Amino acid sequence: MSLRLGDIAPDFTAETSEGTIKFHEWLGSSWGVLFSHPADFTPVCTTELGTVAKLRAEFDKRNVKVVALSTDSVTSHHEWIGDINETQKTHVNFPIIADPAFKVSNLYDMIHPEVSDKTTVRSVFVIGPDKKVKLTITYPASTGRNFDEIIRVIDSLQLTANYSVATPANWQHGEDVIIVTGVKDEDIAAKFPKGHTRIKPYLRTTPQPNI
Ligand code: BEZ
Repeated sequence: MSLRLGDIAPDFTAETSEGTIKFHEWLGSSWGVLFSHPADFTPVCTTELGTVAKLRAEFDKRNVKVVALSTDSVTSHHEWIGDINETQKTHVNFPIIADPAFKVSNLYDMIHPEVSDKTTVRSVFVIGPDKKVKLTITYPASTGRNFDEIIRVIDSLQLTANYSVATPANWQHGEDVIIVTGVKDEDIAAKFPKGHTRIKPYLRTTPQPNI
């Protein structure tokens, strides 16, 4: 059965390009992003890992630890990292899990047999500090992921974890947000001192409260 939002992200111990990690212990109180790749030395994955390395400061700012997974060996990962650094003009600065026995891949349902019974699809899991799964996305192997979108969702998750708001379609950090319907009209002024707009009884917006 695949993982669903709100499930505890399964814990595991795995070898990575940066040594052995015990996943929950490694996450500590941080948020986490776990994302899988079909294989080492593949072109789309090479660009993805380079992109994530360049975004490291953005993940750090949000207290997010990032870990990739590919089913090849640690030795293979080290060779591939050399290529990624060279071709993407960066320095891979996060661990890549080696999962040749599909231990983690199976735990996280990253093998989709109708696509391939040997390689992982492009899964992404965002995990909260409570170790619960907050987001899952699965992309086809032929489509590189949009990591700006992953960061956008993390911004939304971190905001909505602390305020009674939700974020509208295509929301970007800094834009107005939606007051959840559970907040009564008469309580809005105290909760949202920056003001609000009442477009419909169920659609009330307010400036982003945490900036
Ligand atoms: C790639 O990363 O380039 C890739 C991997 C598997 C299938 C297609 C593309």
